[in-house]
Amino acid sequence: MVTTLRPATAADAAGIGPCHLACWRETYAGLLSPEFLAARSAERFTANWAQLLADPATPPVVVAEVDGEVVGFAQTAPSRDTPPARDEELVSLYLRAARHGSGLGQDLLDAVLADRPASLWVAEENSRARRFYERNGFAADGERAVLEASEGLA
Ligand SMILES: CC(C)(COP(=O)(O)OP(=O)(O)OC[C@H]1O[C@@H](n2cnc3c(N)ncnc32)[C@H](O)[C@@H]1OP(=O)(O)O)[C@@H](O)C(=O)NCCC(=O)NCCS
Repeated sequence: MVTTLRPATAADAAGIGPCHLACWRETYAGLLSPEFLAARSAERFTANWAQLLADPATPPVVVAEVDGEVVGFAQTAPSRDTPPARDEELVSLYLRAARHGSGLGQDLLDAVLADRPASLWVAEENSRARRFYERNGFAADGERAVLEASEGLA
């Protein structure tokens, strides 16, 4: 088994798109409606990623591959919040469920953020991710938001 962590290139949209959708389905099965999740398509996710990765203004994305298959990815960007809790935001960190507990999630976080301060949003019900973030020094600051399920959900 060969595990690789590297910066994403435009050619990675075809790998990240289906991985992103699979992670959504694994992570949000109890949170988003089955109809909403079933209606999402890997092609649409891939097209969104193709657009993002082709844009030179897109902040760097790190991908994790196992034997050539994308199994996770992470991205930071300038905070989208006003006012920002931190200048930088961890906007996505996704790892396929089959790889949870392998250390790859930690590797992705370390690769994309190192020890810089950052903010992030996490679903209240996402106990595993919250525990992982707490272990990495993040703490809930009490901010809460209700999101409509949409393509824009990171
Ligand atoms: C977030 C993520 C990258 C973390 O990677 P991981 O490999 O699962 O993390 P680890 O196994 O190193 O750590 C998970 C922690 O949660 C604990 N845990 C596992 N299942 C849990 C559960 N159901 N409830 C609470 N804690 C749980 C583990 O014991 C571990 O804590 P510990 O370090 O105190 O032992 C990964 O779970 C993931 O990609 N999840 C799906 C996508 C996601 O939720 N992304 C975050 C969106 S904001």
